[in-house]
Amino acid sequence: MPIANFDLTNRIAVVNGASRGIGEAIARGFAEQGATVVITSRRQESLDKVAASIRESGGKAVPIACHGGKPAEMKSLFTRVEQELGGLDILVNNAANNPYFGPAIDAPESTIDKTIEVNLKGFFLMIQFAARLMKKRGGGSIINISSIAGIKPSIHEVAYSMTKAGIINLTKGFAKELGPDGIRVNAIAPGLIETGFSAALVDTEEKRASFLNRYPVRRLGQPNDVAAAAIYLASDAASFTSGSVMIIDGGAMA
Ligand SMILES: NC(=O)c1ccc[n+]([C@@H]2O[C@H](COP(=O)([O-])OP(=O)(O)OC[C@H]3O[C@@H](n4cnc5c(N)ncnc54)[C@H](OP(=O)(O)O)[C@@H]3O)[C@@H](O)[C@H]2O)c1
Repeated sequence: MPIANFDLTNRIAVVNGASRGIGEAIARGFAEQGATVVITSRRQESLDKVAASIRESGGKAVPIACHGGKPAEMKSLFTRVEQELGGLDILVNNAANNPYFGPAIDAPESTIDKTIEVNLKGFFLMIQFAARLMKKRGGGSIINISSIAGIKPSIHEVAYSMTKAGIINLTKGFAKELGPDGIRVNAIAPGLIETGFSAALVDTEEKRASFLNRYPVRRLGQPNDVAAAAIYLASDAASFTSGSVMIIDGGAMA
């Protein structure tokens, strides 16, 4: 037996927000380690393409559309996972939005609602659905994607940062409640990762240079940097890790 076992063979994983960016990288990473990955996001067509590409690389992927703010769609997702795949071992709560960038005192109420609905309530409900299935299985691993903005709020992103802080708290709360059932719950707090989500933050040389200055490793993050942490947290190598917040930010918060 190796000291650290990252193998995910025979595990069933749900990764939401998996049609691109960090979620797609995590789904690909899990599939590489042998898991069957249920990939979800709002658009079936994008998921079909990612699933086909994972299968072409020899992995197992099942694409099922599910809006991260719609409980009825979540219910139907987890019902299908149980009926078609027999249960669940891993959940990655990753889909999030950030519809408003600007002074918090001017944030329209609808943007605050939308942010809380998907980034916080959506995460909570996904954990409820997933944990019920994991309990039947005798355990599992839940990984919530927070952000360093959840530790130190970003200017002009107060509502988003607030939800990311909430994710850290709910991670610890669920870790305490679900630990006795063999379910580990952890969070990942990435720094700037180059995806469509963060593109506007580094779309000029000046903005990019300002970020790089704050990142001691002198590069920005890539989706695979987060995927590697998720593989660890999903695997038996992390069997004593629960309630933790893994910061993946090239040292920016140091
Ligand atoms: N990129 C960064 O710098 C960074 C840093 C810290 C934390 N994060 C966190 O990392 C996570 C992923 O971000 P990313 O950069 O990978 O973003 P991204 O490239 O924009 O991908 C977002 C994914 O979420 C899906 N999605 C968006 N809204 C959804 C909803 N309401 N229901 C279901 N799926 C939804 C999108 O697909 P559809 O549009 O098809 O639904 C897509 O698959 C987020 O939680 C984000 O807060 C990102």
